[in-house]
Amino acid sequence: MSPFAMTYALHLLAALVWVGGMFFAWMILRPAAVGVLEAPARLKLWVEVFRRFFHWVWAAVLVLPITGVGMLHLRFAGFESAPRYVHIMMGLYIAMLALFLRVQVLQLPELRRAVAAEDWPSGGAVLGRIRRLVGINLILGLVLASIAAARPGF
Ligand code: HEM
Repeated sequence: MSPFAMTYALHLLAALVWVGGMFFAWMILRPAAVGVLEAPARLKLWVEVFRRFFHWVWAAVLVLPITGVGMLHLRFAGFESAPRYVHIMMGLYIAMLALFLRVQVLQLPELRRAVAAEDWPSGGAVLGRIRRLVGINLILGLVLASIAAARPGF
């Protein structure tokens, strides 16, 4: 396997884990949990789901720019000569990172505190805000993957 192929595979796997994980959480787990669990159990479930999923998101958040910049040098001889869609990819990555950090640093601790205090209405309100941000990030990730696949202007 060439260095480029290995870097490319890691990049794709990281994108799949992050975007696929958000897709599963939003489209499958969220409606299923609403359907079968009462608020206390549902909020506890989400605290545990985020704790486990966010380890993988942190890995993806690190692997994507490292492998992405690696490929920029291996294939395009640097940032300036890279095609437009790679610039768009980097811009959308920064937007996705900002939203992820907002959930991780501000909202998740708030959710944990509400669950620890058994304050279910506040927990539900925070979870609603997290859901909105994850929904936006999911859309950004899907748009980004479509742009990468279509390679406009290349
Ligand atoms: C700093 C962040 C990033 C950089 C520098 C970067 C850079 C790159 C580069 C150089 C390629 C190879 C392009 C080619 O060979 O034509 C690539 C491919 C790809 N990237 Fe990124 N990327 C970044 C973030 C992301 C993110 C956040 C995602 C998705 C969540 C993503 C998804 C993809 C996909 C799906 C491809 C394969 C496209 C294809 O070859 O058809 N990238 N990226």
